[in-house]
Amino acid sequence: MNDQQRVLLIIGGGIAAYKCLDLIRRLRDAGIAVRVILTKAGAEFVTPLSVASLAGDKVYGDLFSLTDESEMGHIRLSREASLVVMAPATADLIAKLANGLANDLASTALLATDKPVIVAPAMNARMWLHPATQRNVATLKGDGVTVIEPGAGALACGETGPGRMAEPDAILSVILDRLADAPRPLAGRHALVTAGPTWEAIDPVRYIANRSSGKQGYAIAEALARLGARTTLISGPTALDAPAGVERVCVESARDMLAATEAALPADVAVCVAAVSDWRAAVGGGQKLKKNGAPPSLELTENPDILTTLSRHNRQRPALVVGFAAETERVIAYAQDKLARKGCDWIVANDVSHDTGVMGGERNTVHLVTAEGVEDWPTASKSEVAARLATRIAGVFARKP
Ligand code: CTP
Repeated sequence: MNDQQRVLLIIGGGIAAYKCLDLIRRLRDAGIAVRVILTKAGAEFVTPLSVASLAGDKVYGDLFSLTDESEMGHIRLSREASLVVMAPATADLIAKLANGLANDLASTALLATDKPVIVAPAMNARMWLHPATQRNVATLKGDGVTVIEPGAGALACGETGPGRMAEPDAILSVILDRLADAPRPLAGRHALVTAGPTWEAIDPVRYIANRSSGKQGYAIAEALARLGARTTLISGPTALDAPAGVERVCVESARDMLAATEAALPADVAVCVAAVSDWRAAVGGGQKLKKNGAPPSLELTENPDILTTLSRHNRQRPALVVGFAAETERVIAYAQDKLARKGCDWIVANDVSHDTGVMGGERNTVHLVTAEGVEDWPTASKSEVAARLATRIAGVFARKP
């Protein structure tokens, strides 16, 4: 990491501001210079003196301070940075940036910058979920801003839900990714990823599900986004937070997943990682089944196949459609059969048999099956498999107009 790299950190007003002190320390440990704009509200939570001591630089606060304007105007402040990070990003700061308002140093610097912008929101769960905030966040993403989605949990206001600012480690890793001048070969492309299990209702309280954790699909969505793709992740129920820079759509059933997937078209590439339930109850929903003597017999009916639907889409087939195959025997033969039957371009086959620990685990051993042949990849972490697959996908698009 070279010494020239500098982050302009805008600290908004929120209890999570204290986490920025740790973030500044970690950034400096990584050899990155930090210059801080502390908003008026931010200064209610952390003092300019503690920020300045950690940053080793003066702290900027007031747009109309003549000294600041002559020494370092908002234009220079934002241009001299390699990237701009807003953390915690309050609902107010997000709304300002989404709407182009500029009435203080923070908002002016954000509009004036020509560098990548990363925002780490933190707020009350209701404020985060409010349609106005969600609309503003979607606008920011559309403008190319990287949004590090807040996590769920106990909030400082006493409520629980989504709204906790990402931890300094997670913010640092997104910053390092962006600072590394990583090539972004998928910029301008739209990637669609399905992940996780589906839940198929038997009645209002019971459902059919499976053991998929969603980890591999989430890692792939994250890797595609890191290479610059606008990435939509259609996710069944999982315990995972949305990866940084990815737009997540949460669904439950296979039919919802199909509808969300089709609604997200057109896409350049689709990667179907979800463990979609093959069947659902023929008569689901209604009232809760009661114990009336003998156990009920459950009639099942087949779910739509999302991978096949995308592969055979006659108007909006993505240029590259990738499926997964979880097999316990004859892995390659079954994967090749799936490739032909479903009409996709590649199948990533993984062996989920014996002690592989793939389902729910951290590592994976996969084979890339295409019309050209089979590649055996070495066992690796799910994020390494994801990074390799994303790079292969980028290779396809490097040759396409
Ligand atoms: N898939 C899908 N929609 C379904 C079922 C599967 O999109 N309703 C996708 C998965 O996301 C995966 C691929 O199809 O990419 C393989 O899924 P799998 O369940 O293994 O395939 P099946 O055709 O069900 O084969 P089998 O059950 O015989 O193994």
